[in-house]
Amino acid sequence: LSQIQVKLGDIPEGKNVTFKWRGKPLFVRHRTEKEIAAEEAVNIAELRDPQHDNERVQKPRWVIVLGVCTHLGCVPIANAGDYGGYYCPCHGSHYDASGRIRKGPAPLNLEVPFYEFPDEDTVVVG
Ligand code: FES
Repeated sequence: LSQIQVKLGDIPEGKNVTFKWRGKPLFVRHRTEKEIAAEEAVNIAELRDPQHDNERVQKPRWVIVLGVCTHLGCVPIANAGDYGGYYCPCHGSHYDASGRIRKGPAPLNLEVPFYEFPDEDTVVVG
């Protein structure tokens, strides 16, 4: 399928759920208020791949990214690493809870695919 539809009500706050989309892992993360505040406050001048959180999310509560490390393509682990977002165990890349690269060899932020919210409880990716 070229599109995937995800019911957001099934994903509790603080959890990241992995789906399969176009043969790749797709992460849908329900962020906490604390995570949202922390990511919105990051000084983008400190970032390797500078992007403000609001360039990466349509709704602050939901982070939707490909679960593919931008170093060599391993699948990062959610809620791990020094920045509490994702950690790639292959060579030690740390991503924040916006999916931005913060430490380690990966050059770029986790990719944000095209997606839309047709209603309050649904996201369609692709
Ligand atoms: Fe993720 Fe190398 S593939 S750090």
